[in-house]
Amino acid sequence: MSIAEVYSGFATREAHGVSPAYERLALAVSRDDEVLALLGTLPPAKRQPNLLFGVVRLLGGPVEDPAAFHDWAVANWPAIAAEMRSRATQTNEAGRCAVLLPVLAALPQPFALLEVGASAGLCLYPDRYAYRYGDHQVGSGEPVLECVATGMAPPARLPEVVWRAGLDLNPLDVTDPADLAWLDALIWPEHTHRRARLRAAAAVAAAEPPLLVRGDLVDDLPALAAQAPAGATLVVFHSSVLYQVPASRRAAFVEVVRGLPGHWIANEDPDVLRHDTLPEPPGGALNNVLALDGTPLAWTRGHGQAISWFA
Ligand SMILES: C[S@@+](CC[C@H](N)C(=O)[O-])C[C@H]1O[C@@H](n2cnc3c(N)ncnc32)[C@H](O)[C@@H]1O
Repeated sequence: MSIAEVYSGFATREAHGVSPAYERLALAVSRDDEVLALLGTLPPAKRQPNLLFGVVRLLGGPVEDPAAFHDWAVANWPAIAAEMRSRATQTNEAGRCAVLLPVLAALPQPFALLEVGASAGLCLYPDRYAYRYGDHQVGSGEPVLECVATGMAPPARLPEVVWRAGLDLNPLDVTDPADLAWLDALIWPEHTHRRARLRAAAAVAAAEPPLLVRGDLVDDLPALAAQAPAGATLVVFHSSVLYQVPASRRAAFVEVVRGLPGHWIANEDPDVLRHDTLPEPPGGALNNVLALDGTPLAWTRGHGQAISWFA
């Protein structure tokens, strides 16, 4: 796929109906020969729209007006390129806990939670947040995670977590203002509710920082899993991670995780973590598939804002 096609596809498939500013911008970049040529000087993995737009926001550039964006991007390209080369998209969305909770509720507790691709570890606190599934509220903390749930009874209570650990190639630290600024820049411009959610979830994590280990989800998972306390159910989980992992490494990861004791929860794009049979996805925006120990259970929306149970 050409860079122009990546940007036009991002506009129509990902940003449409979700971020008018990024839809406009991605379409403009897809027709902007000068910016496309600059992007072409970067390694293929570093050309994505989310990375470019996040870096421009981080550096204080304009993302609302495509003409202003063009001028700013061309004038500031060396700084943009340096940031794009050194960073990766690491959006950490606590809202995804709202789609993990129904699966956790059905497993034996207490839990030792181990998240691979944890970013700053904000999904490691499903027991601290509050949830609203329609009229049904669970928990009383902050942030309150709203989720439209269909085909399932909402979970009755919060899980009990006795150990939490994250593994990431580049763990982020929510107590570091620079890391928090990057997480903020990765949130799409109009999503003020997600920005507020990031602050509230970061406060939860900062109050009791998780064990975050720098490492690879294949090579370093068994050693971290071995640190989980006896007497708790080990749950290895991941959400929106495997699209960043090459196919051969994804297969190696599945083999490693299947060899561990406990349970495995995946919330991933079915194009990167395949299942033999799946029902038609609900219409609209992109969907992940939630699976327990390899069995698909539900379609979920990208930021945890909806779950459609089918199992
Ligand atoms: C899009 S973020 C998702 C973060 C978090 N799971 C969430 O749902 O909010 C993907 C994360 O996976 C991490 N990652 C990518 N490849 C990895 C690997 N091979 N081993 C460990 N972490 C990896 C990235 O560094 C990034 O922090």
